Amino acid sequence: MIHTRITGTGSALPDKILTNFDIEKMVDTSDEWIVTRTGIRQRHIAQEGEYTSTFASMAARNALDKAGLTPDQLDMILVATVTPDFPFPSTACLVQSNLKAANAVALDISAACSGFLYGLSIADKYIRTGSARKILVVGAEVLSRIVDWSDRNTCCLFGDGAGAVVVEASESEHGILSSHMKSDGSFWELLYQPGCGSRNPVSPKAISERLPFISMQGNEVFKHAVRAMGEIACEALAVHDLTADDIDLFIPHQANRRIIDAIAKRLGVPEKKIFNNVERYGNTSSASIPIALDEANRTGRVNTGDLILLAAFGGGLTWASTIVRW
Ligand code: UT7
Repeated sequence: MIHTRITGTGSALPDKILTNFDIEKMVDTSDEWIVTRTGIRQRHIAQEGEYTSTFASMAARNALDKAGLTPDQLDMILVATVTPDFPFPSTACLVQSNLKAANAVALDISAACSGFLYGLSIADKYIRTGSARKILVVGAEVLSRIVDWSDRNTCCLFGDGAGAVVVEASESEHGILSSHMKSDGSFWELLYQPGCGSRNPVSPKAISERLPFISMQGNEVFKHAVRAMGEIACEALAVHDLTADDIDLFIPHQANRRIIDAIAKRLGVPEKKIFNNVERYGNTSSASIPIALDEANRTGRVNTGDLILLAAFGGGLTWASTIVRW
């Protein structure tokens, strides 16, 4: 039986850091409000000349090094992003070009903050069916370019960066045990980018109406996030007859500390088993879980044999969970 094993992780973040105190100077907000409502203290922001493909390629190189692979060994590159360098070609094609991964097929996945787990699930299916053996899955965003820096409701929430994993076919029983994905398009208007697509193309009117920037009904999204991520994490545990006690590390999407705490409480996962880095990076959408996974891997928070639960939620609406035996 073929399993899908994570053999390398990597991440990359812009050098520039924007603190809550910096944002206090831009809009009517305070460090105290942002920390209390979100847990975020700072975020990394791309500078001129840095794009989604820049961080995606850096994270990918780190993951390939850890896996001991060269880019030409990859069969597939999946990049989850809602902030591609261009509408087309895909950011995955740009990463393929940067890496010189000549033998890989490359495509993007659009599932907002759930994009990385959607990508991991697709990679798992390709590997289990024998259609591919080595796949790079990246979550990468430069959200600062679609954030309205005059809107206090959203500008303090998001950050830039990328995380990546290499997954490989393996005979061992370690790796992805199962993945679960759900979508509900009926709530698409709760979180979206109104402009720059075919519905509201770029125009002076679209720009004056702030359409190219993220629009979010924060408190509605909050409620859906707690419910949906909680449900899909429970579903993942139930499939394997596991309880929260069996989990060694829970890595939820890093959007808001209060969402993470509410889900952990619902699942019964104690604080010490929850991975949390939202205070340093903010919400990096599809990049949040692979950045966290790489940090957990580099800092010894995961050991061979550990059971890791991953859960995500994002615009679409989309949500997903994955259980990994490390
Ligand atoms: O990545 C997946 C998708 N995204 C998420 O999961 C995010 C989900 N939502 C959230 O994290 C939270 O809803 C927010 C952090 C966005 C907002 O927190 P909240 O506790 O839900 O606040 P709220 O939206 O109910 O707003 C409360 C008040 C409002 O004032 P009024 O109308 O009560 O007078 C806002 O105008 O807080 C105000 N407010 C702010 N005040 C100071 C909103 N943003 C700010 C701000 N500074 N930055």
